[in-house]
Amino acid sequence: MNDLQSVVAHAKAAFELARTPAELENTKAQYLGKSGRITEMMKGMAALSVEEKKTQGAAINLAKQAIEAALNARRQALADAELQAQLQAEALDVTLPGRQRGSGGLHPVSLTLERIEAIFGSMGFEVAQGPEIESDWFNFTALNTPEDHPARSMHDTFYVEGGTEQAPNLLRTHTSPMQVRHAVQHVKKHRMAAEGSVPANALFSGAMPEIRVIAPGRTYRVDSDATHSPMFHQCEGLWVGENISFKDLKFVLTDFCRTLFEQDDLVLRFRPSFFPFTEPSAEIDIQFQSGALAGRWLEVGGSGQVHPNVIRNMGLDPERYIGFAFGMGVDRFTMLRYGVNDLRLFFDGDIRFLSQFR
Ligand code: DAH
Repeated sequence: MNDLQSVVAHAKAAFELARTPAELENTKAQYLGKSGRITEMMKGMAALSVEEKKTQGAAINLAKQAIEAALNARRQALADAELQAQLQAEALDVTLPGRQRGSGGLHPVSLTLERIEAIFGSMGFEVAQGPEIESDWFNFTALNTPEDHPARSMHDTFYVEGGTEQAPNLLRTHTSPMQVRHAVQHVKKHRMAAEGSVPANALFSGAMPEIRVIAPGRTYRVDSDATHSPMFHQCEGLWVGENISFKDLKFVLTDFCRTLFEQDDLVLRFRPSFFPFTEPSAEIDIQFQSGALAGRWLEVGGSGQVHPNVIRNMGLDPERYIGFAFGMGVDRFTMLRYGVNDLRLFFDGDIRFLSQFR
């Protein structure tokens, strides 16, 4: 092997040893750089004759071209390797399943509320909403509740700041305050239309459209166990007119419960009870005729004929107006509807429980 051939062979071997583009460029300098082997050889030709310069020059050029070809090949190889490594590092597995966004759903209590509103809606009841921070007047006094009634004690009621000692504010303990709140608005509206003004204190004994309303919502009591939560849901109902009797109450609630539970043979029992705002009063029990709970009496709410004092607080003359009211436990209905035995599950916010109702 002559000198030139050995320089080319060395250059090729050295290029192969270079692991990075930077290393390769350094190695290149040893052959093609200013004081590289090839450049040195070119300089060495100065002493040669013209003839020798021709042949030697041509030979060196060939060697130089061979080295450049090897250099470019190695450059390409290193670039390819680098790209390959990068692709591998950033590899995406396009066969992996994508991230899915689950579809949400309504809370089981909301589902029951929707159903309650739809059923009563079909019987001509409108839906009213009221405040959860309520005055002592609407929650108790207007509902004919005596000053010393146990429900008024700190033990049962959450009192909140903002009221006075004579007129404290509280978290409503039931949806019943909506009876008077809604009725007062209703009476005022129709009285204004009929008489043009509403005299203070004078009870209304004129004609007006019936009050037929439900008021669902959150209620609060100092109470907490498997069947009681400090926050729970009730649905109030009120139907006041000139000739609304206990018979209508029985019909409406029986029809409602049978529709809600989709059981035509469901039985209701009106058990005599006491509430300050109704007279007579009854507790509502239901009995399924089939299924896991068949035969058992389950209490679902209270009801009664609206007390004349409450009718008065609505601004109506009890000689003309009469009606019934009821209040039902919405959480209780939801537990029965879905076979849930611990009320707390509704308020824990556990997605595994809630997603079953989607
Ligand atoms: N407010 C009562 C409670 O929370 C339930 C109730 C009873 C509501 C009788 C009524 C009623 O409207 O007439 O226990």
